[in-house]
Amino acid sequence: MKDVKGKVAFVTGAASGMGLGMARAFAAAGMKVMIGDIEAEPAQRAVDELKGKGLQAACVKVDVTSLEAMQEAARKTVDTFGKVHVLCNNAGVGCGGRSETAKMRNWHWVVDVNLWGVVHGLQAFVPLIQSHGEGGHVVSTASVAGMISIPGTGPYNATKYAVVGIMETMMAEQKDANLGVSVLCPGLVATNLGTSARNRQDQYGGAAKPNPKDAIAGSLADGLDPDIVGRLVLEAIEANQPYIFTNPALAHLMENRFRNIAAGNAWAASSKALAGVKQSAKLPG
Ligand SMILES: NC(=O)c1ccc[n+]([C@@H]2O[C@H](COP(=O)([O-])OP(=O)(O)OC[C@H]3O[C@@H](n4cnc5c(N)ncnc54)[C@H](O)[C@@H]3O)[C@@H](O)[C@H]2O)c1
Repeated sequence: MKDVKGKVAFVTGAASGMGLGMARAFAAAGMKVMIGDIEAEPAQRAVDELKGKGLQAACVKVDVTSLEAMQEAARKTVDTFGKVHVLCNNAGVGCGGRSETAKMRNWHWVVDVNLWGVVHGLQAFVPLIQSHGEGGHVVSTASVAGMISIPGTGPYNATKYAVVGIMETMMAEQKDANLGVSVLCPGLVATNLGTSARNRQDQYGGAAKPNPKDAIAGSLADGLDPDIVGRLVLEAIEANQPYIFTNPALAHLMENRFRNIAAGNAWAASSKALAGVKQSAKLPG
């Protein structure tokens, strides 16, 4: 999307952190921004801040774990601003713990917010973006933890790999369409992710103070300024950039993963079980 001025963006998790950074960057570029967040008061403060600068913004309280709530948020966005062009599936929660020992309710919480929240966003908003023919862009926030597996955060990593998979699939499906598709894979960013359990819904155990043993709940204070990430996402939408990384210095970790994957294929090629088996080098699709 080269010309974002006057276009409408819906951003989940925009009351705080990177989502707020996106809302600020989009509004400053002349976009109309609908903030969707489970925390109503910070969302309203964000709207007041933007409106105080003469920018266009509104908010809706939404829990991304509910498809119906996301569909209602989509209706409110169109009622308020007429159309929607940009969706940022950004709301997410940090949750540490190993896959085999993390509390099951935390597994369900992180999957419901970080994975189902993205699916609900796509289902509720993409048909609306496609309906007006003016084009648009979808950005989902994954993480470098969707590219490399950080020990001690199995459930979180699982959701972020899933988001990368969904968005890479969409990139291929939408390559000839008027819809840009990006996946945001931040490194450390100085946000409130370490206190995610402030928003934990009752069905997952309710609100709680951060667990000091959580790998993710460690200090994020030295991370990147989330407003820089907001400006980076705007730049990526304008450039139709599919992968949005915030810390290129981490590239070696991803290259190391690809080397390990290549070694796995080389091992299979020399295995006794596959010796002499002829297979196609193509996949369907
Ligand atoms: N901070 C980092 O270092 C980092 C790194 C990689 C990826 N991420 C991802 O970035 C995204 C944004 O997180 P952040 O770091 O800005 O944290 P943050 O806590 O500052 O912001 C997250 C926002 O999501 C909202 N939210 C939480 N649960 C919700 C729900 N069920 N429905 C609607 N809104 C909900 C929160 O109220 C908050 O406003 C998340 O997906 C996170 O996993 C963060």
